[in-house]
Amino acid sequence: MSHPKTLLIKNIRILYGIDHRPYPFKRGKAMSFLDHIENAYIFADNGKIVAFGPQETCPYESAEEVIDASGKMVLPSWVDSHTHIVFATSREGEFVDRIKGRSYEEIAASGGGILNSAKKLQNTSFENLYSDAEKRLKEVISFGTGALEIKSGYGLSFDAEIKMLEVIKALKKNHPYFPIKSTFLGAHAIPTIYKQNREAYIDIILHKMLPYIAEHQLAQYCDVFCDKGFYTVEETDLILKKAASYGLKAKIHANELAISGGVQVGIANQAISVDHLEETGQAEIDALKESKTIPTLLPGTSFFLNIPYAPARNMIDQGLGICLATDYNPGSTPSGNMPFLLSLACIKMKLLPEEAINAVTINAAHALELSEQYGSIDIGKKAQLIITKPIKSLAYIPYAYGSELIDSVVLNGKVIV
Ligand code: NIG
Ligand code: FE
Repeated sequence: MSHPKTLLIKNIRILYGIDHRPYPFKRGKAMSFLDHIENAYIFADNGKIVAFGPQETCPYESAEEVIDASGKMVLPSWVDSHTHIVFATSREGEFVDRIKGRSYEEIAASGGGILNSAKKLQNTSFENLYSDAEKRLKEVISFGTGALEIKSGYGLSFDAEIKMLEVIKALKKNHPYFPIKSTFLGAHAIPTIYKQNREAYIDIILHKMLPYIAEHQLAQYCDVFCDKGFYTVEETDLILKKAASYGLKAKIHANELAISGGVQVGIANQAISVDHLEETGQAEIDALKESKTIPTLLPGTSFFLNIPYAPARNMIDQGLGICLATDYNPGSTPSGNMPFLLSLACIKMKLLPEEAINAVTINAAHALELSEQYGSIDIGKKAQLIITKPIKSLAYIPYAYGSELIDSVVLNGKVIV
């Protein structure tokens, strides 16, 4: 892919998401502010933003690529900080089972769910996993996503977990203008053959998988599904501590099915983010207030599984900063559609459009430790941008749910869709 050196987007109706303050992420009231300039331009050179401002002050008349964005909005690309897009096959059979009345937990306990995905993935070749995951990656780019986290966790054996992480590594290598962070989630479920001997599987995670992953630099983060019927707080603590000793920072799946203690054990292990939190009480909110950990909420999962939504409004009103992500996976959220996620956040969690957009841009970039280069419009940051179709306000994006409002996306200063 050859990239033009310079890009000028001119006559932008409103340029949104300008931000250069030196805080790690936006919290509380600050989440409702999304700085913007009306009738603006932005200029990028060699993939980076070098200038932006009111159109009448624009010193540039030409560039290798020039876009007239009259009537259109420009925003920083979304950052999707929690996905599982490497998987072997969809699970619409379980979807129909739930319509008929079975719960997600019942399906999981009888060998469906994550275990079902693991069986399929173990028997799927690297090449097929790669080509399906790459299709999903291209799909999410068309939704405006400009950076992604991808987890393992559908392997649940040494070979299959490593195969998943190798797929993520290959995606990274072949898409150099699309940052990808890789998370090891070997502790996603207890494999069927270890059901009566879970310590033996945890031993493999601790003494085989983690050392290999660290040696071959296959992941930046380690995640554990700390929840009812999955991993206990003690097991989670053990795994996260061992991972930290290999330089892998903590993330966590917690409190999706029950208040599990997962938020607290994540914070105690300096997790960058604690994710899900559909079941959250005041104790969890208080613990988050005292920490640097960002809660990452996944409204697509609540929508698809018909479970409660995480208390995002209450968290922000109490001064917390939140991140939102899709959780794109075959079991609980078979969609990576960020604009639909924004609608869910506004409609079901009562977030303002500005709060929802901050949660998937600057705050999400923080959740992946990418905020120095991504997540807002600022001089020196990457030109990773969304150009909307002509629309008259920011609120129109979550309001017009289901409409395709993205005109084009820019990765590393090049218009690619
Ligand atoms: O984040 N909750 C755990 N893991 C995934 C879904 C796993 C599955 O059902 O395949 C999630 O929702
Ligand atoms: Fe997840």
